[in-house]
Amino acid sequence: MEEIVHGRYKLLRKLGSGGTGEVYKALDLRLKRNVAIKRILPEKRGKKRVLGRLQKEAEYLAMVEHTNVVLVHDIVDSRDTFSIIMELVNGVPFIRAFRRRPMPEAQYLGYLRQILAALKAVHGVGLIHRDVNPKNILVTREGVVKLTDFGLSGLVKDTDHRMGGTLAYMPPEAMRKNSRLGFGLDIYSLGFLSYQAILSLHGFKKLYGAKRPRDWIRWVLSSEPFKTLKELGAPVSDDFSELVARMLAKDPKVRYQKVAQVQKDLDGYLESIGYPAAGL
Ligand SMILES: Nc1ncnc2c1ncn2[C@@H]1O[C@H](COP(=O)(O)OP(=O)(O)O)[C@@H](O)[C@H]1O
Ligand SMILES: [Mg+2]
Repeated sequence: MEEIVHGRYKLLRKLGSGGTGEVYKALDLRLKRNVAIKRILPEKRGKKRVLGRLQKEAEYLAMVEHTNVVLVHDIVDSRDTFSIIMELVNGVPFIRAFRRRPMPEAQYLGYLRQILAALKAVHGVGLIHRDVNPKNILVTREGVVKLTDFGLSGLVKDTDHRMGGTLAYMPPEAMRKNSRLGFGLDIYSLGFLSYQAILSLHGFKKLYGAKRPRDWIRWVLSSEPFKTLKELGAPVSDDFSELVARMLAKDPKVRYQKVAQVQKDLDGYLESIGYPAAGL
């Protein structure tokens, strides 16, 4: 049956759904263009906490304006529900690009540069994304990265961060109660994503013997460092292997703490190999 949200957005197809929300491709009947709508799952409607969370998500998304971050057009609400109207990304989740086979370093570098640019914009307005993972990064047909899903984001200056995140991408400090969270959290997640793309890993399964979530938590909380990509025999350069290792350092003080530091090292490396300069 046809459903029209707020008298204006005709739902066309479901794109995805999670614990509290669902995302649809929809037609904006007034501007005659396609958009994406994220709204609360029918069974969660009317729940104040869920409503407030989605409202925050929209506000956070609206704070960031960057080519590599999904654009928010509007929010619409009615008595018991709330919807975010966003730019529709014609593309696929990044995970598709390496699920079947490892991604060559040279190909990954182009994505890494864009994801770093997105994170710099997010951190630049004082936000920690907190859920950087390959399902929340969409890639358009032209190869442009779009970071989405600010559902767990928070202001870095807030000290009472809720627990949460996608387990495989969570650094040790995000697994401990009451630890201070900083921008390094997202950098670690991106480090794990890099590891995963180059090795074609499916989450943490079988890594370091982890079978169940609690095995993984125990291992992440241990002091043993991740083996570098080089040590694992991946066909990557020493510089790249080193860069990923510093993003994935378990100790936040050893890890890169700012995106600009990662970018500086990455740019230096790219220049040394004659990689084409980034546009604009
Ligand atoms: N703006 C968008 N354009 C296209 N697809 C999107 C968009 N936003 C989300 N999606 C799709 O919907 C899925 C779920 O959206 P997301 O915001 O990550 O919700 P959840 O909080 O449930 O994880 C994403 O993984 C992506 O595949
Ligand atoms: Mg998501």
